[in-house]
Amino acid sequence: MSHLVAYKLENCPSPSRERIDEFDSGTHTIYLFKSLEISDLMVSMGRGFGFGKVILFGEHFVVHGVPGIASAIDLTTEAEVQKTQDGITIKDERRSAKGYTEKKRTQQKESIQRMLETMGIDSEKTSLEIRLGGNLPSFSGIGASAASSVAITKAIAEELGMDLPDERINEIAYEAEKAYAGTPSGIDNSAATYGGLIWFRRNLSGGSNTIERLSIRQPVEVVIGNTRVVANTKEMVAGVAERKRENPEKYDQLFSRAETLALEARKALEDYNLREVGRLMNENHGLLQEIEVSCEELDYLINLAREQGAFGAKLTGGGGGGCMVSLTPGKELQESVAQAMEKKGFEVLRVEIGV
Ligand code: PMV
Repeated sequence: MSHLVAYKLENCPSPSRERIDEFDSGTHTIYLFKSLEISDLMVSMGRGFGFGKVILFGEHFVVHGVPGIASAIDLTTEAEVQKTQDGITIKDERRSAKGYTEKKRTQQKESIQRMLETMGIDSEKTSLEIRLGGNLPSFSGIGASAASSVAITKAIAEELGMDLPDERINEIAYEAEKAYAGTPSGIDNSAATYGGLIWFRRNLSGGSNTIERLSIRQPVEVVIGNTRVVANTKEMVAGVAERKRENPEKYDQLFSRAETLALEARKALEDYNLREVGRLMNENHGLLQEIEVSCEELDYLINLAREQGAFGAKLTGGGGGGCMVSLTPGKELQESVAQAMEKKGFEVLRVEIGV
């Protein structure tokens, strides 16, 4: 049997490893641990990343087959995965909204179980340490869960020597997203996997979804404002489905307008008609209010952005709290909208869409 010697407990790579002996050298306490196999001691690590996103048009409606438009933002979640001996452990070092990590912990664990299962990995027999970081904060509504699912999938695949194409990564992240969103549309994980500006339509018959890359003349500045209310996407998605079932006439009309609006928005983006994009964002927010997924804090920030001259503003993501996004072309407008929100004590992100 080989042994591993560490003169400080924190120097031991795995504190739960079996301790065989300890003795005093006079100046230090020497700890003796049972060693891993030499191959296990050679440090390997898998790495992966996923993009954060905003949904510019069609959140909630996309779950029911209406097209939506999302844009990745230039912030990412990064994951590092290392084989260990201690089961599946997660170290979440992302900057997060107060209460986010605790509230999402159960869903995060379930999502990793789903991920491993879909990858054909036996979670009982596999020990992995998963570390999450990167510059995408974990706020609700900017795709933090999808970005982490994509990042972790890529990192596990690399660590376990699995060569997975993006399409497969996206499928696995979709299965993981079910833990957070119940019946996700797939728009979040697609934006997190592929990046860019995407046109997305869920295939309700179970076939492949439509994912098209859109291109615009140049990236546009936006301001994302965080309400600090941690939202539960799963409950929000289920709530819309329930109200839609109870009130089909009203909801059919709203859903049909959301579809036309997405088509108009695609054209406006491709024509780089930003005034029109902003106007349509405002209208989209009106539809989201009608399906009851906005809240006081979101409406407050959205009005504030509009008063400051934003071309348009709406909630982004699941709603019920989380984030809003405002279209603020040019650094100057972006800055004045961002500062207005900061003055009121809200945290903002100054990013670009269409990068
Ligand atoms: O809150 P987020 O960032 O997870 O976005 C959810 C978007 C929904 O349209 C509400 C759900 C979905 O899967 O499309």
